[in-house]
Amino acid sequence: MATIIDGKTLAAKVRERAAVEVAQLAGRGIACGLAVVLVGDDQASATYVRSKLRDCEQCGIRSYDYKLSAETTQEELMALVERLNADSEVAGILVQMPLPAHLDTEAVVAAIDPDKDVDGFHPMNMGRLVRDLPGLRPCTPAGIMEMLDEYGIDPAGKNAVIVGRSSIVGKPMSLMLLARHATISVAHSRTDPHELARICQSADILVAACGVPKMVKGTWIKPGATVIDVGMDRDDAGKLCGDVDFASAEPVAGAITPVPGGVGPMTRAMLMSNVVLAAKLQNGL
Ligand code: GUN
Repeated sequence: MATIIDGKTLAAKVRERAAVEVAQLAGRGIACGLAVVLVGDDQASATYVRSKLRDCEQCGIRSYDYKLSAETTQEELMALVERLNADSEVAGILVQMPLPAHLDTEAVVAAIDPDKDVDGFHPMNMGRLVRDLPGLRPCTPAGIMEMLDEYGIDPAGKNAVIVGRSSIVGKPMSLMLLARHATISVAHSRTDPHELARICQSADILVAACGVPKMVKGTWIKPGATVIDVGMDRDDAGKLCGDVDFASAEPVAGAITPVPGGVGPMTRAMLMSNVVLAAKLQNGL
């Protein structure tokens, strides 16, 4: 029986910590505002944005909600980012992804002031991550590191396997575990499928971030391993599930995150703590 890593409870703690700091900063005249920019009418994105705005309210973070039409031009979006960069009430800027196809995502991300980049997607923040320098880190892997720390799971000297190499999860996750002295393997869609199970079996810490429902089976898991499930998928019956087949994995794992209630809530909570960090960075704290 694995320890269930309770992301929901830890997320509440992270939000409380953020709320305390927001109040302290406000007392010193420092505003912790978050601007959230949503372009177009993608329903999933709209839902994510709504929950982010709700989290802000809970933490005492003032939110600035920008809903732009799907026909927004590159120039209009860049002008908005510039305006938000210059606004001292706005500590953090989040442009919800994916952007409509006609917009240049890389140019938009690069236009955000790196000290306001609460997603940690800016090339400067990615560079800081590569070089082990302090900076804003992507929320999902940052939340996973918090969970490991909370449960006393020290990556140092452990074998960590990350399944998935996205810029927002897999790649930064591998770098953050590397910075904490784990030995890293990154598997991805071009990894030999016959090798995948064996690679996963070498993991003391296994992070599944491939976006394939229930792909990681219990037989792929080293007994006692820590299993982190980043997936937010639907199974054949349309029920929410992760990238890990929880039913077969849980009896083998030493600790495991559930879906829902694991990585998801922590990702959202880390956004709040990144807004606080961003406000501090901009004020030399
Ligand atoms: N779309 C899906 N996940 C994310 C995220 O973490 N940040 C942003 N900005 N957009 C997303």
